[in-house]
Amino acid sequence: IDFKIITNNGNHERMKMLIDLKNIFARQLPKMPKEYIVRLVFDRNHESMCIVKDDTKVIGGICYRKYPTQRFAEIAFLAITANLQVKGYGTRLMNKFKEHIQKQDVEYLLTYADNYAIGYFRKQGFYQEIKMNPDRWKGFIKDYDGGTLMECYVHPSIDYGN
Ligand code: ACO
Repeated sequence: IDFKIITNNGNHERMKMLIDLKNIFARQLPKMPKEYIVRLVFDRNHESMCIVKDDTKVIGGICYRKYPTQRFAEIAFLAITANLQVKGYGTRLMNKFKEHIQKQDVEYLLTYADNYAIGYFRKQGFYQEIKMNPDRWKGFIKDYDGGTLMECYVHPSIDYGN
């Protein structure tokens, strides 16, 4: 498997991958309005890291937005396709994502975790206690009552690639 960073840049093959990822999110996050998922996945401020099998088959991914001046990123959506969940792909994806985002000088990750995903995020180093100063992130990300805000510190010198 490969991990590919994909943005909405008009490339046909990459657009197809974003559509596949959007469909995984829509199926795995049924409480999220579909139009909202489409809007963020194709928004130019958002990027996605896709897990790709056999060069073209998207089996999951993470959609996020970086706030470079604030040095944090918000994870909007994260999902693995149904029949491949709980096989370790979600952990590999998060490690790859941390490795990538660390190189972009991002120090914190924030996400509104669905209640049933809190356990997964805890295992990936996310906490409900927010250490970042509110000035740094409040007003940048939207409040969302359907989830629990969680934060992960991305240590600048940890090797997340292992
Ligand atoms: N609750 C508690 N623990 C969990 C959950 C969960 N919902 N899902 C996985 N875990 C645990 C696993 O048991 C495993 O523990 P272990 O290391 O002790 O064995 C660990 O977390 C990692 O498991 P993976 O196999 O790496 O996880 P997976 O590949 O299934 O990916 C994910 C996790 C992304 C949550 C996946 O199950 C999924 O797509 N679920 C449906 C969509 C979803 O809930 N997405 C997150 C919503 S919140 C958001 O998008 C911001």
